[in-house]
Amino acid sequence: MEKIIDGKSISTALRKQLLEKTNLLKAERGITPGLAFIIAGDDPASRVYVKSKGKACDELGFYSVTEHLPADVSEGRLLSLIDEFNANDSIHGILVQLPLPSHIDQQKVIERIDYRKDVDGFHPVNAGRLMIGERCFVPCTPAGIIEMLRHAGVNTEGSNVCVLGRSNIVGKPVANLLMRKEYNATVTVCHSRTRDLKAVTSGADILIAAIGKPDFVKSDFIKDGCVIIDVGINRVADSDSKTGYRITGDVDYKDCFAKCGAITPVPGGVGPMTIAMLMKSTYDSAAGDVYER
Ligand code: GUN
Repeated sequence: MEKIIDGKSISTALRKQLLEKTNLLKAERGITPGLAFIIAGDDPASRVYVKSKGKACDELGFYSVTEHLPADVSEGRLLSLIDEFNANDSIHGILVQLPLPSHIDQQKVIERIDYRKDVDGFHPVNAGRLMIGERCFVPCTPAGIIEMLRHAGVNTEGSNVCVLGRSNIVGKPVANLLMRKEYNATVTVCHSRTRDLKAVTSGADILIAAIGKPDFVKSDFIKDGCVIIDVGINRVADSDSKTGYRITGDVDYKDCFAKCGAITPVPGGVGPMTIAMLMKSTYDSAAGDVYER
Protein backbone atom coordinates (compact mmCIF):
# COMPACT_ATOMS: atom_id res chain seq x y z
CA MET A 1 0.00 0.00 0.00
CA GLU A 2 1.25 3.52 -0.78
CA LYS A 3 1.73 5.37 2.48
CA ILE A 4 0.42 8.69 1.17
CA ILE A 5 -3.09 8.43 -0.27
CA ASP A 6 -2.86 11.02 -3.02
CA GLY A 7 -6.31 12.55 -3.47
CA LYS A 8 -5.05 14.85 -6.17
CA SER A 9 -3.95 12.07 -8.51
CA ILE A 10 -6.97 9.84 -7.75
CA SER A 11 -9.31 12.75 -8.47
CA THR A 12 -7.46 13.61 -11.70
CA ALA A 13 -7.98 10.04 -12.94
CA LEU A 14 -11.65 10.17 -11.95
CA ARG A 15 -12.20 13.43 -13.78
CA LYS A 16 -10.53 12.05 -16.90
CA GLN A 17 -12.94 9.08 -16.90
CA LEU A 18 -15.84 11.43 -16.29
CA LEU A 19 -14.84 13.64 -19.23
CA GLU A 20 -15.02 10.63 -21.55
CA LYS A 21 -18.40 9.58 -20.16
CA THR A 22 -19.71 13.15 -20.44
CA ASN A 23 -18.66 13.38 -24.09
CA LEU A 24 -20.55 10.14 -24.77
CA LEU A 25 -23.63 11.38 -22.91
CA LYS A 26 -23.65 14.49 -25.07
CA ALA A 27 -23.02 12.66 -28.36
CA GLU A 28 -25.35 9.70 -27.82
CA ARG A 29 -28.20 11.21 -25.81
CA GLY A 30 -27.83 14.96 -26.37
CA ILE A 31 -27.60 15.63 -22.62
CA THR A 32 -25.20 18.18 -21.11
CA PRO A 33 -24.96 17.89 -17.30
CA GLY A 34 -25.99 21.18 -15.65
CA LEU A 35 -25.16 22.38 -12.15
CA ALA A 36 -26.48 25.48 -10.37
CA PHE A 37 -24.57 27.08 -7.50
CA ILE A 38 -26.14 29.43 -5.01
CA ILE A 39 -23.90 31.37 -2.65
CA ALA A 40 -25.11 33.99 -0.17
CA GLY A 41 -22.73 36.48 1.41
CA ASP A 42 -18.98 36.95 1.19
CA ASP A 43 -17.41 34.17 3.23
CA PRO A 44 -13.94 33.93 1.61
CA ALA A 45 -13.63 30.14 2.00
CA SER A 46 -17.09 29.58 0.46
CA ARG A 47 -16.16 31.79 -2.50
CA VAL A 48 -12.99 29.78 -3.11
CA TYR A 49 -14.92 26.47 -2.92
CA VAL A 50 -17.63 27.61 -5.34
CA LYS A 51 -15.04 28.98 -7.75
CA SER A 52 -13.13 25.68 -7.85
CA LYS A 53 -16.37 23.73 -8.32
CA GLY A 54 -17.30 26.04 -11.23
CA LYS A 55 -13.87 25.52 -12.77
CA ALA A 56 -14.29 21.74 -12.51
CA CYS A 57 -17.61 22.09 -14.42
CA ASP A 58 -15.88 24.08 -17.18
CA GLU A 59 -13.13 21.48 -17.55
CA LEU A 60 -15.68 18.71 -17.99
CA GLY A 61 -17.86 20.69 -20.39
CA PHE A 62 -20.79 20.84 -17.92
CA TYR A 63 -23.22 23.73 -18.07
CA SER A 64 -23.04 25.71 -14.83
CA VAL A 65 -24.56 28.84 -13.41
CA THR A 66 -23.63 30.67 -10.20
CA GLU A 67 -26.10 32.94 -8.39
CA HIS A 68 -24.22 35.17 -6.01
CA LEU A 69 -26.64 36.68 -3.51
CA PRO A 70 -25.94 39.45 -0.99
CA ALA A 71 -25.54 38.49 2.69
CA ASP A 72 -28.86 40.21 3.52
CA VAL A 73 -30.86 38.33 0.86
CA SER A 74 -34.32 37.34 2.09
CA GLU A 75 -35.16 33.70 2.71
CA GLY A 76 -38.08 34.08 0.29
CA ARG A 77 -35.78 35.20 -2.55
CA LEU A 78 -33.47 32.26 -1.94
CA LEU A 79 -36.38 29.80 -1.88
CA SER A 80 -37.87 31.17 -5.11
CA LEU A 81 -34.48 30.86 -6.82
CA ILE A 82 -34.43 27.20 -5.81
CA ASP A 83 -37.97 26.80 -7.23
CA GLU A 84 -36.70 28.19 -10.56
CA PHE A 85 -33.79 25.75 -10.70
CA ASN A 86 -36.07 22.89 -9.64
CA ALA A 87 -38.26 23.65 -12.67
CA ASN A 88 -35.35 24.15 -15.11
CA ASP A 89 -34.73 21.00 -17.21
CA SER A 90 -31.15 22.09 -18.09
CA ILE A 91 -30.21 21.91 -14.41
CA HIS A 92 -29.53 18.44 -12.98
CA GLY A 93 -27.89 19.50 -9.73
CA ILE A 94 -28.46 22.35 -7.28
CA LEU A 95 -25.81 23.22 -4.71
CA VAL A 96 -26.47 25.82 -2.03
CA GLN A 97 -23.10 26.58 -0.47
CA LEU A 98 -23.17 26.29 3.32
CA PRO A 99 -23.04 27.95 5.77
CA LEU A 100 -25.86 30.38 4.98
CA PRO A 101 -26.27 33.77 6.69
CA SER A 102 -27.77 33.26 10.17
CA HIS A 103 -31.18 34.84 9.41
CA ILE A 104 -31.89 32.07 6.89
CA ASP A 105 -33.33 28.71 7.97
CA GLN A 106 -30.75 26.34 6.48
CA GLN A 107 -32.88 23.21 6.84
CA LYS A 108 -35.84 24.86 5.10
CA VAL A 109 -33.55 25.75 2.20
CA ILE A 110 -32.14 22.22 1.94
CA GLU A 111 -35.64 20.72 1.98
CA ARG A 112 -36.81 23.06 -0.80
CA ILE A 113 -34.34 21.52 -3.27
CA ASP A 114 -35.92 18.77 -5.39
CA TYR A 115 -34.32 15.64 -3.89
CA ARG A 116 -33.75 14.38 -7.46
CA LYS A 117 -31.39 17.38 -7.99
CA ASP A 118 -29.82 17.29 -4.52
CA VAL A 119 -26.28 16.38 -5.63
CA ASP A 120 -24.99 17.31 -2.14
CA GLY A 121 -27.11 14.51 -0.66
CA PHE A 122 -28.32 16.73 2.21
CA HIS A 123 -32.09 16.44 1.61
CA PRO A 124 -33.83 14.20 4.19
CA VAL A 125 -34.98 11.86 1.38
CA ASN A 126 -31.36 11.23 0.36
CA ALA A 127 -30.08 11.12 3.97
CA GLY A 128 -32.81 8.60 4.82
CA ARG A 129 -32.22 6.47 1.74
CA LEU A 130 -28.49 6.43 2.51
CA MET A 131 -29.25 5.13 5.98
CA ILE A 132 -31.52 2.30 4.78
CA GLY A 133 -29.19 1.26 1.96
CA GLU A 134 -31.24 2.51 -1.03
CA ARG A 135 -29.90 4.23 -4.14
CA CYS A 136 -29.50 7.97 -3.48
CA PHE A 137 -27.21 10.96 -3.80
CA VAL A 138 -24.38 10.47 -1.31
CA PRO A 139 -22.74 13.57 0.24
CA CYS A 140 -19.57 14.33 -1.74
CA THR A 141 -16.95 14.21 1.01
CA PRO A 142 -18.05 10.78 2.32
CA ALA A 143 -18.26 9.49 -1.27
CA GLY A 144 -14.70 10.79 -1.85
CA ILE A 145 -13.46 9.07 1.32
CA ILE A 146 -14.86 5.71 0.17
CA GLU A 147 -13.26 6.17 -3.25
CA MET A 148 -9.87 6.92 -1.66
CA LEU A 149 -10.06 3.84 0.56
CA ARG A 150 -10.94 1.74 -2.49
CA HIS A 151 -8.05 3.13 -4.55
CA ALA A 152 -5.63 2.60 -1.68
CA GLY A 153 -6.75 -1.04 -1.44
CA VAL A 154 -7.98 -0.68 2.15
CA ASN A 155 -10.33 -3.49 3.14
CA THR A 156 -13.21 -2.21 5.27
CA GLU A 157 -14.80 -5.65 5.76
CA GLY A 158 -15.10 -6.26 9.51
CA SER A 159 -12.66 -3.47 10.33
CA ASN A 160 -13.00 -1.00 13.18
CA VAL A 161 -13.60 2.50 11.88
CA CYS A 162 -13.55 5.47 14.22
CA VAL A 163 -15.20 8.64 12.92
CA LEU A 164 -14.32 11.85 14.75
CA GLY A 165 -17.20 14.30 14.33
CA ARG A 166 -20.95 13.85 13.88
CA SER A 167 -21.79 16.51 11.29
CA ASN A 168 -24.58 16.01 8.75
CA ILE A 169 -22.07 16.74 5.96
CA VAL A 170 -19.35 14.23 6.87
CA GLY A 171 -19.51 12.29 10.16
CA LYS A 172 -23.06 10.89 10.04
CA PRO A 173 -23.16 10.06 6.31
CA VAL A 174 -19.69 8.45 6.23
CA ALA A 175 -20.65 6.32 9.25
CA ASN A 176 -23.87 5.24 7.54
CA LEU A 177 -22.04 4.43 4.31
CA LEU A 178 -19.40 2.29 5.99
CA MET A 179 -22.07 0.34 7.88
CA ARG A 180 -23.73 -0.67 4.60
CA LYS A 181 -23.41 -4.30 3.52
CA GLU A 182 -21.03 -3.28 0.71
CA TYR A 183 -18.46 -2.15 3.29
CA ASN A 184 -19.35 -4.08 6.45
CA ALA A 185 -17.30 -1.92 8.82
CA THR A 186 -17.87 -1.66 12.56
CA VAL A 187 -18.24 2.06 13.06
CA THR A 188 -17.88 4.18 16.18
CA VAL A 189 -18.75 7.87 15.97
CA CYS A 190 -16.99 10.12 18.50
CA HIS A 191 -17.77 13.75 19.30
CA SER A 192 -16.99 16.53 21.77
CA ARG A 193 -18.64 14.67 24.67
CA THR A 194 -17.00 11.31 24.09
CA ARG A 195 -15.39 10.01 27.26
CA ASP A 196 -11.78 8.71 27.01
CA LEU A 197 -11.45 9.47 23.33
CA LYS A 198 -8.00 7.90 23.00
CA ALA A 199 -9.31 4.54 24.23
CA VAL A 200 -11.71 4.54 21.25
CA THR A 201 -9.39 5.96 18.58
CA SER A 202 -6.56 3.60 19.50
CA GLY A 203 -8.74 0.59 18.64
CA ALA A 204 -9.37 1.85 15.09
CA ASP A 205 -8.04 0.23 11.91
CA ILE A 206 -9.28 3.31 10.04
CA LEU A 207 -9.59 6.77 11.60
CA ILE A 208 -11.62 9.48 9.87
CA ALA A 209 -11.10 12.95 11.37
CA ALA A 210 -13.73 15.60 10.62
CA ILE A 211 -13.87 17.96 13.58
CA GLY A 212 -12.31 21.20 12.32
CA LYS A 213 -9.57 21.31 14.99
CA PRO A 214 -6.07 21.92 13.58
CA ASP A 215 -3.55 19.10 14.24
CA PHE A 216 -5.80 17.58 16.92
CA VAL A 217 -4.96 13.90 16.32
CA LYS A 218 -1.50 12.95 17.63
CA SER A 219 0.44 9.71 17.31
CA ASP A 220 -0.67 8.52 20.76
CA PHE A 221 -4.30 8.48 19.49
CA ILE A 222 -3.65 5.75 16.93
CA LYS A 223 -2.53 2.16 16.78
CA ASP A 224 0.34 0.98 14.57
CA GLY A 225 -0.68 0.70 10.93
CA CYS A 226 -3.90 2.71 11.26
CA VAL A 227 -5.19 4.22 8.00
CA ILE A 228 -5.90 7.93 8.54
CA ILE A 229 -8.34 9.99 6.49
CA ASP A 230 -7.97 13.67 7.36
CA VAL A 231 -11.03 15.71 6.37
CA GLY A 232 -9.95 18.91 8.14
CA ILE A 233 -9.25 22.10 6.20
CA ASN A 234 -8.13 24.58 8.87
CA ARG A 235 -6.51 27.98 8.37
CA VAL A 236 -3.78 28.68 10.89
CA ALA A 237 -1.57 31.76 11.21
CA ASP A 238 1.88 31.30 9.66
CA SER A 239 4.30 34.22 9.48
CA ASP A 240 6.54 32.29 7.04
CA SER A 241 3.76 32.15 4.45
CA LYS A 242 3.12 34.99 1.97
CA THR A 243 -0.59 34.94 2.76
CA GLY A 244 0.04 34.98 6.53
CA TYR A 245 -1.67 31.63 6.97
CA ARG A 246 -1.40 28.01 5.95
CA ILE A 247 -3.89 25.16 5.62
CA THR A 248 -3.62 22.22 7.97
CA GLY A 249 -5.80 19.19 8.69
CA ASP A 250 -7.33 17.78 11.88
CA VAL A 251 -4.39 15.38 12.14
CA ASP A 252 -0.83 16.22 13.14
CA TYR A 253 0.62 14.74 9.95
CA LYS A 254 4.28 14.87 10.95
CA ASP A 255 3.62 13.31 14.32
CA CYS A 256 1.45 10.48 12.96
CA PHE A 257 3.31 9.69 9.73
CA ALA A 258 5.78 7.09 11.02
CA LYS A 259 3.19 5.17 13.05
CA CYS A 260 0.26 5.07 10.61
CA GLY A 261 -0.20 2.60 7.76
CA ALA A 262 -1.38 5.26 5.30
CA ILE A 263 -2.56 8.86 5.48
CA THR A 264 -4.22 11.51 3.34
CA PRO A 265 -2.30 14.81 3.09
CA VAL A 266 -3.83 18.26 3.59
CA PRO A 267 -4.01 19.90 1.13
CA GLY A 268 -4.14 17.38 -1.72
CA GLY A 269 -6.14 14.66 0.02
CA VAL A 270 -9.87 14.67 0.66
CA GLY A 271 -10.44 18.20 -0.78
CA PRO A 272 -9.93 17.42 -4.49
CA MET A 273 -11.89 14.16 -4.09
CA THR A 274 -14.93 16.05 -2.81
CA ILE A 275 -15.08 18.15 -5.97
CA ALA A 276 -14.60 15.12 -8.24
CA MET A 277 -17.47 13.31 -6.50
CA LEU A 278 -19.73 16.35 -6.89
CA MET A 279 -19.04 16.21 -10.61
CA LYS A 280 -19.78 12.48 -10.65
CA SER A 281 -23.11 12.99 -8.84
CA THR A 282 -24.07 15.71 -11.32
CA TYR A 283 -23.22 13.40 -14.22
CA ASP A 284 -25.23 10.57 -12.59
CA SER A 285 -28.18 12.91 -12.10
CA ALA A 286 -28.08 14.03 -15.76
CA ALA A 287 -27.77 10.44 -16.98
CA GLY A 288 -30.69 9.33 -14.77
CA ASP A 289 -28.45 6.86 -12.94
CA VAL A 290 -29.70 7.76 -9.45
CA TYR A 291 -33.35 8.71 -10.03
CA GLU A 292 -35.22 8.19 -13.29
CA ARG A 293 -35.51 11.32 -15.38
N1 GUN B 1 -19.91 23.69 2.96
C1 GUN B 1 -18.90 22.88 3.37
N2 GUN B 1 -18.94 21.70 2.72
C2 GUN B 1 -19.99 21.77 1.88
C3 GUN B 1 -20.53 20.86 0.93
O1 GUN B 1 -20.07 19.73 0.74
N3 GUN B 1 -21.62 21.30 0.25
C4 GUN B 1 -22.18 22.52 0.46
N4 GUN B 1 -23.25 22.85 -0.24
N5 GUN B 1 -21.70 23.39 1.33
C5 GUN B 1 -20.61 23.01 2.03
